[in-house]
Amino acid sequence: MTLGTELPKRVRIVEVGPRDGLQNEKTAVPTEVKLELIERLADAGLCAVEATAFVSPKWIPQMADHSEVLARIRRKPGVSYPVLTPNLKGFEAAHAADAMEVAVFGAASEAFSQKNINCSIAESLDRFRPVVERALKEKIKVRGYVSCALGCPYEGEVKPQQVAQVASALYDMGCYEVSLGDTIGVGTPRKTQAMLEACAQRVPIQHLAGHYHDTYGQALANLYASMELGIATFDSSVSGLGGCPYAAGASGNVATEDVLYLLHGLGIETGIDLDKVVEIGIWISAILKRNPGSKAGRALAANKAKLA
Ligand code: HMG
Ligand code: MG
Repeated sequence: MTLGTELPKRVRIVEVGPRDGLQNEKTAVPTEVKLELIERLADAGLCAVEATAFVSPKWIPQMADHSEVLARIRRKPGVSYPVLTPNLKGFEAAHAADAMEVAVFGAASEAFSQKNINCSIAESLDRFRPVVERALKEKIKVRGYVSCALGCPYEGEVKPQQVAQVASALYDMGCYEVSLGDTIGVGTPRKTQAMLEACAQRVPIQHLAGHYHDTYGQALANLYASMELGIATFDSSVSGLGGCPYAAGASGNVATEDVLYLLHGLGIETGIDLDKVVEIGIWISAILKRNPGSKAGRALAANKAKLA
């Protein structure tokens, strides 16, 4: 596929709030709340809801109930519930809880790789290879992440070629899609396009996704710039929940409500009911005792309240 300037007609959203959002909460979120969040998001039309992470509970205690969460989800046909699996130990536990899709997560920066998963980039790829092999043998799909695609909290600038190298390694080992993470939300549209152009030289563009945190308020602009190049899959988080425990100051993912408002306004199909996502955002924000993090969500909820 060649790079085009037309926007996609349909966009696939991967909701990452239950994982990327809740991994960052200071107080424990009850398993029941996680299950309700995941199920309501699927009921709102999201076809992919990242459910949890099979990582070490010593590193990320927020995800310690991973097996229970994955095993207890009332699964909706046609919906995927990917989970993070950094190594074979995580994969085996996810498989035991009947995971149908897993994700390995690497980084384009050495320092971040060490802080996040305690190994170098090369070591991480060596760890992921047997996970991907094992998963594909079990007919389990594997997604790949590249963190720090537009900057690193420890190393600063990250070159597009570094991102492309890790993205292509993940794709070549069998990941069906590689999600490019602006972990600390520092990217701007032209930088985002330069990074995507480098990646698209090594991975077909329809197998790339954007995962943009909104720390500097650039995520929607970066998402639009990505669509101009033909990217049609984006990760987002209800109410903008999220952050990364190993990236100080990083705020949440771009809010699902804001993304839907933009896409629907452009006439791009998503199959997702924005009103339902707004309600979920208000509900989970109240439980987490924080202000709803989506501007579109707040405005739509206020309009609804006025009309009621
Ligand atoms: P390690 O300490 O190097 O692992 O951690 P190890 O193999 O040396 O094992 C040490 C201990 O951990 C052992 O237990 C293992 O059994 C246990 P002990 O003998 O000490 O009792 N262990 C595990 N336990 C549960 N599940 C596992 C597992 N593996 C080992 N899978 C490891 C390596 C990767 C496990 C660790 O560094 C870790 O869990 N890191 C957490 C990383 C994380 O979850 N980060 C946040 C998600 S990434 C992100 O947010 C970015 C993203 O959103 C994209 C973006 O925004 O850019 C995806
Ligand atoms: Mg993230």
